[in-house]
Amino acid sequence: MGCESRTGGAGAGCCGVDPYGGAVTIRHGDDGSRGGHRAGVSLGLLPFVAEVTAVDASGEMLRVLGEKVTALEAANLHTLQCDVEEATLPPGRFDQIVSSMVLHHLPDVAMVLKHLRPALRTGGWIALAFLDVEDGTFHADPTGIYHHGFERATGCRWLEEAVFAVSTVREAYRITRPGSDGVMRTCPVFLVTARAG
Ligand SMILES: C[S@@+](CC[C@H](N)C(=O)[O-])C[C@H]1O[C@@H](n2cnc3c(N)ncnc32)[C@H](O)[C@@H]1O
Repeated sequence: MGCESRTGGAGAGCCGVDPYGGAVTIRHGDDGSRGGHRAGVSLGLLPFVAEVTAVDASGEMLRVLGEKVTALEAANLHTLQCDVEEATLPPGRFDQIVSSMVLHHLPDVAMVLKHLRPALRTGGWIALAFLDVEDGTFHADPTGIYHHGFERATGCRWLEEAVFAVSTVREAYRITRPGSDGVMRTCPVFLVTARAG
C-alpha cells in the first residue's frame, strides 16, 4: 500500500521522500472533536523534538490535524496517511514511536509492532498507551473495535516478541465517558515504554 505524506498541513510528498525524523505517532489525537481524553500527542511533542510525523489511516483525521498545524505555523509536523497493518514505515528513520488509544482498533497488534520495529533507530524508544481491559461497553459504537482493552502482560509480551526491551508499565490516565448503554464509566489507560535494542 502506498503512503501519502504532507508537511505543515500543506504540500504533498511521497513516502520515503520527505525528511522524516524526530518522532512518529500512529495517530495525532487533538482534533478536539470527540471526548476530553484526547492528549494531543503529536502537538504536545513538538516543543521537545526536532520533528514529528503523525501517522493515521484516515485522511480526514490528518486533514483536521493539518489545519491545526497550519494555524500554529508548526513546520516541524508532517502527516503521513498510512495503514500501519499494511504499510512498512521507512526503516531507521525515527527516534521514538508514540501511540495513544489506537491499538484496540488493530486486529493483530503483535504483527503491527513487528512492522513498526524496523522504523526505529537502534536505541530508539516506543511508548504505547493501551486501553485497559473493559467489559465491552466502553465504545458506544463497536465498529472497528477489535479488543475490549488489553492485559498489561499481553502488551509487554507483544513488545518483547517484536524485540523491544520493556522499560516501564504504569497507568497513564483515566477516561470517563458514557458507554454503549449511556452509563458513565471510567476506564484506565496504561502506558508501556520500551527500547529498541
Ligand atoms: C481512537 S482514535 C485515536 C485517538 C488519539 N490517538 C487519542 O489518543 O485520542 C484511533 C485512530 O486510529 C486510527 N487507525 C485505526 N486503524 C489504523 C491503522 N490500521 N493504521 C493507521 N491508523 C489507524 C484511526 O483512523 C483513528 O484516527
